[in-house]
Amino acid sequence: MIKNKKLLIAGNWKMNGFKKNLSVISLLIKYIKLKKLKSSEILICPPNTLIDSFSNLAKRSKLLIGAQDCSENETGAFTGEVSPSMLKDSGAQAVILGHSERREYQEESNKLIHAKAKNSLKNDLLTIVCVGESLIQKKNQNTLRVIGEQLKKSLPDKINPNNLVIAYEPIWAIGSGLIPDNADIYKVHSFISNKLNSRYGNKSKKIKILYGGSVNKKNALSILSIKYVDGALVGGASLKFSDFKAILDFCN
Ligand code: PGA
Repeated sequence: MIKNKKLLIAGNWKMNGFKKNLSVISLLIKYIKLKKLKSSEILICPPNTLIDSFSNLAKRSKLLIGAQDCSENETGAFTGEVSPSMLKDSGAQAVILGHSERREYQEESNKLIHAKAKNSLKNDLLTIVCVGESLIQKKNQNTLRVIGEQLKKSLPDKINPNNLVIAYEPIWAIGSGLIPDNADIYKVHSFISNKLNSRYGNKSKKIKILYGGSVNKKNALSILSIKYVDGALVGGASLKFSDFKAILDFCN
């Protein structure tokens, strides 16, 4: 159990889940009630099609529901897009932005992520901005340079530190079962913390920094214990209740 941290454990369901998966959410809500969480927060980000029904189930519980992307625009002729205010309207309280899968498959740039983050912060959504290096960038010892640039270009100047979260997700660790060693996670997280401090000053202390990439019940305690790690962004292990619960068991 991690006693002295206010952790945020976020589940990124990616393009997984149907209405029949409602039972996972019901189990999660029951578990959170029984566990009487004191300070940690739990968030599930399902596909947009499930936000409304999940948030209805989670209404009177401490479980937060969020989305995996949002538009940089408010409303209008943008086919296929969903704005932060529409996500809020369907019950979302949070959004993940700049995930490496979107940076890669949808060719999202830092500039676009910056505009999306600005819009979601303006709409008071808990805004999780993802950063992380590829394997080649790591091998070329460019990790900190890449992350420094992603932070500089993806984050808006005007922020509410209570609503901004950074997720460090090494691309090579996502879904691969590989994770950086603890010293490397510490190095990157303290680098991010320093960058946030020099940009936002005292406010930055409130910005949580999550680790993501192959987090599971076996490695979660060790990762969550690292200084500057304020939680986890969990993909695969958030889809099955028993796997996710085993990670949540470490929260207070
Ligand atoms: P993973 O995914 O836990 O399955 O590696 C993490 C993520 O992509 O957010």
